[in-house]
Amino acid sequence: MSHSKHELGGDKQSSTRGGNISSRIPGFYKLGVRERLTALRDLAGLSDAEVGLLHDGCLSVEQANHMVENVVGTYALPLGLGLNFQVNGRDYLVPMCVEEPSVIAAASNAARMVREGGGFVAEADPPLMIAQVQLYDVPDTTAGTQAILAEKAALMCACNDAQPSLVRRGGGTRDIEVRTLEPSTAEDAGMLVVHLIVDCCDAMGANLVNTVAEAVAPRLAALAGGCFGLRILSNLADRRCVRVRCRVPVDVLRSERFDGVAVRDGIVLASRFAELDPYRAATHNKGIMNGIDPVVLATGNDWRGVEAGAHAFAARSGVYRPLAIWRAGSDGMLLGQIELPMAIGTVGGTLRVHPGARLGLQISGVKSAQELGMVMASVGLASNLAALRALAAEGIQQGHMSLHARSVAVAAGASGALVDIVAAELSKLGDIRKERAEQILSQLRESAAY
Ligand code: HMG
Repeated sequence: MSHSKHELGGDKQSSTRGGNISSRIPGFYKLGVRERLTALRDLAGLSDAEVGLLHDGCLSVEQANHMVENVVGTYALPLGLGLNFQVNGRDYLVPMCVEEPSVIAAASNAARMVREGGGFVAEADPPLMIAQVQLYDVPDTTAGTQAILAEKAALMCACNDAQPSLVRRGGGTRDIEVRTLEPSTAEDAGMLVVHLIVDCCDAMGANLVNTVAEAVAPRLAALAGGCFGLRILSNLADRRCVRVRCRVPVDVLRSERFDGVAVRDGIVLASRFAELDPYRAATHNKGIMNGIDPVVLATGNDWRGVEAGAHAFAARSGVYRPLAIWRAGSDGMLLGQIELPMAIGTVGGTLRVHPGARLGLQISGVKSAQELGMVMASVGLASNLAALRALAAEGIQQGHMSLHARSVAVAAGASGALVDIVAAELSKLGDIRKERAEQILSQLRESAAY
């Protein structure tokens, strides 16, 4: 680890975070990385060793080699803190792992605005996952359905026998449903799908529910008089949704050139655009996932699963729709709301083997998968708000491109202090191209200043 005790303000052992902390840290982004780490260490109760891991890399090749196959190295991404988040009256430091400039700044910016309206108000469904068992060649789907439902209690016992430790933790199979899939060709005739609804407690639950499905599939097929096919979870985890609302005072929405009411109305118009047009809804939802994916990644969760669930949920009516919508309230405030499935966990999976994922969870301070899901959806709503506010006012390029300018400066060959100098010049010129950065760099070098 490369920090001295002095830089970090004294040696420190890991401690459990007590009480509420404030995630409102004005100007955090203006600190150097080491100063930020010191602040984080104190706020999140990290040990010096944990701070060292954050600074020097959270995953060794040895550890990586135990995670996946054919390992030849590791691949790092920046980890930043989403700030200003207040969800159900509690403050959160949000770990965000992402390669795209302006995402973390944007989420923190919008969370600051939402804070002015009382913070995010969130609720989460119980952690219910769906395992699907496909049954085919069922001679009479109505009779097959009845036969399965008549045995529901015994089947639920069999499901729970397959996962005794889950039952001991308070989870287990809660329900069994049978759906008939309408045939579109002759080969589809006689297809049933059985949904096993399983409470996974704080686990994401993919492996848990797959085991349950495999255990009971032969019995289900026998009851239906057909054969079993796939036995696998559904990533459309619509029994495990999170809903978040927020209220934003118009004053805090104002920008350089537009007053708060104009920006609010622009955001509502942007919402209507996404509600009416799937082409726009896809980009609107991408802006939401800009915030959610980095938290999913930083806490060791399966972002492909969350993405699949989000987009399938967005299209559940048959038309692809926005996951978040915005309206003006009768009191003039901007009202936002989001709903999406959140199949994530705070135990098991990657968390067992990835020290960075464990640290991410520790930084967030969440105690359960439901709480983590509510924080993630809040970050999604905040990201959407920041992007729509920028789009409704000056346009996205002003804020996004000025932060992107640093990557452009690096791509042009700048390093050290030159990165910020070149980036500032690019932003001032309003011309954030690599060629322009190369020009500025060579002028600076010729002037012998660097
Ligand atoms: P600003 O008004 O210049 O910021 O916004 P500010 O200086 O007034 O600071 C306000 C707060 O923002 C700060 O609070 C920070 O929390 C945060 P304070 O610390 O002062 O109490 N903040 C920063 N945090 C970290 N690093 C920074 C930083 N600057 C401000 N450098 C900002 C600047 C970029 C935040 C604003 O213009 C913004 O929110 N823009 C939106 C950018 C965005 O959405 N980026 C995502 C990528 S675009 C995309 O892919 C999605 C899209 O297609 C989706 C869609 O179409 O819907 C657009």
